[in-house]
Amino acid sequence: KRPFQVAIDGVASTGKSQTAKRLARLLPGFVHVDSGAMYRAVALKALNLNLDPSANTGKADIAAVASHIDLQFEAAPPGSDAPQTVLLDGVDVTADIRSREVARSVSAVAAIGDVRKVLVTMQQKLANTPGANGVVMEGRDIGAEVLPTAELKIFLDGSVDIRAKRRLNEMKASAEKEGKPFTATLSELIEDVKARDHADYTRQISPLRKADGAVVIDTSFLSMDDQVDLVLDLVKQRL
Ligand code: C5P
Repeated sequence: KRPFQVAIDGVASTGKSQTAKRLARLLPGFVHVDSGAMYRAVALKALNLNLDPSANTGKADIAAVASHIDLQFEAAPPGSDAPQTVLLDGVDVTADIRSREVARSVSAVAAIGDVRKVLVTMQQKLANTPGANGVVMEGRDIGAEVLPTAELKIFLDGSVDIRAKRRLNEMKASAEKEGKPFTATLSELIEDVKARDHADYTRQISPLRKADGAVVIDTSFLSMDDQVDLVLDLVKQRL
């Protein structure tokens, strides 16, 4: 029997990663897979190599990058709210993949069909990690494309303004931690969030959408604790 599958999809900055990570920790033997981090790592590498995801040559080159990508994930220590560590070619890029530059280019990279093919195959393999009891995978197309037979599908939504504010707070905290200046304004981040949602909803291949049978949760006025409890209850009803 394959591991139990929880698919968490939704728009940007609805706490998908936090929810998925905490949930996986509360369920014995469950692994957490952040599929967005994979797209972000490919986007970062494309930026570093100056490859343009909107040009045809760039698309082919980025697909080639994805097919050879050396990506490793290390879970954060138990009890910590830090994100998982992401290693790209052996280098820790955990902070770099959350930059505004990456956020701005990732949707175009994720729209490249051959990039998706490579990453979806990796994700499906991770969902079958030997010895795992279950997997909590988060992204945009997990319930609809990657794990279509998942026992539980969740779709996280929320108002644009509140999501942009969350981004602002996250980015401020991370800039402070790194001792770097922080210049983005709330209205800029509202535009960033809107642009990313629009690109993700309207792309040709695997656009962001609520999978059939997914439970929709509006996160606008939910605390992270309540959000996790809600999803945990839904899992327990199906275990
Ligand atoms: O979840 P996160 O914000 O880190 O995702 C970054 C971007 O990666 C999304 O805006 C989307 O373009 C892409 N993505 C995707 N399919 C997934 C996960 C993420 O296209 N399963």
